[in-house]
Amino acid sequence: MILALESSCDETAAALCTADGEIIAAAVASQIEIHRRYGGVVPEVASRNHILHVRALVEQVLAQAGVRLADVEAFAATSGPGLVSSLLIGTSMAKALAVAEKKPFLAVNHMEGHLLSPFMAGNGPPRRSVALIVSGGHTMLIHMTEVGAYRLLGRTRDDAAGEAFDKIAKMIGLPYPGGPEIDQRAAQGRPDAHAFPRSFLDGRSLEFSFSGLKTAVLYELPKLNLHDPSSLADICASVQEAICEVLVEKLVLAARLTGETLVTVSGGVSCNRGLRVKLQKRCDQEGLNLLLARPDLSTDNAAMIAYTAAQRFQRGQTSALETDVDPNLPLVA
Ligand code: KG4
Ligand code: ZN
Repeated sequence: MILALESSCDETAAALCTADGEIIAAAVASQIEIHRRYGGVVPEVASRNHILHVRALVEQVLAQAGVRLADVEAFAATSGPGLVSSLLIGTSMAKALAVAEKKPFLAVNHMEGHLLSPFMAGNGPPRRSVALIVSGGHTMLIHMTEVGAYRLLGRTRDDAAGEAFDKIAKMIGLPYPGGPEIDQRAAQGRPDAHAFPRSFLDGRSLEFSFSGLKTAVLYELPKLNLHDPSSLADICASVQEAICEVLVEKLVLAARLTGETLVTVSGGVSCNRGLRVKLQKRCDQEGLNLLLARPDLSTDNAAMIAYTAAQRFQRGQTSALETDVDPNLPLVA
């Protein structure tokens, strides 16, 4: 049994899984409502709230699973990337529990958690594939040959996909976080109402760029009617289409270039309903197998951290207690 904590940004989460990766209990305390009034995550506020919730979450998952602390074989926590003051709460707690219980500690890379999340919930084991990870802070394509063997195929040169959703949502007057707000309105809008730019860079590039889209929306702003729900829905649908088309086409291109037939998509943006539909359609056309992280495992959670820790633990890997948090922890060295 492994107990994992996640506190890299604005969700405090705990989860328990078996050493072979089956999730037994999981709980998340979201701070979205707290940060909404600031229009984004305030690091100091986030870390204070992690402190308030972390102990209760540990007790909650132990109670849910009906196990005692002494039954836990290893303690894990996200050690990066993320906000330093937030990462410190989860890692300090996991290290303290490991010391008290005389059990190993595992530092987990948050992006590896996202990367492996599509293999959870019965889709395992993790295997050869091309992965698109789309979160609030990262957009990348990874070629995975096995657990721990990752090659970076491409990443964003500027904004992450989630960041583009959030920043554009803010510009058009929608609350934080903007991704789900745009998703919801896009369902009633016309994706071809506005011809927003798609940045494919050169045809074979696996890098992304979303800053041009943001600028295009900014220039359109004076002409847009944000008060009429149907015009707003059209803008949302058109923005979503511009972002998702690039994501889907680059994933398909990455599969073609690597020769892989299994593709996975994870991270908060993979909850986007327009993206999920588009992905399935294109993968069917291309004869690609698609594994999507379950929506509750797409946004930040500790279950994916526990699952990743279990993969590492099974391979005999643990971390030194001296392992520090790293706000820029790379997934690929
Ligand atoms: O993976 P995640 O929970 O946290 C990070 O590691 O960043 O991703 C959060 C991001 C936010 O930018 C949020 O707006 C976006 O995921 N997001 C969505 C949707 N749900 C969450 N973006 C588009 N459509 C959604 N339904
Ligand atoms: Zn994340």
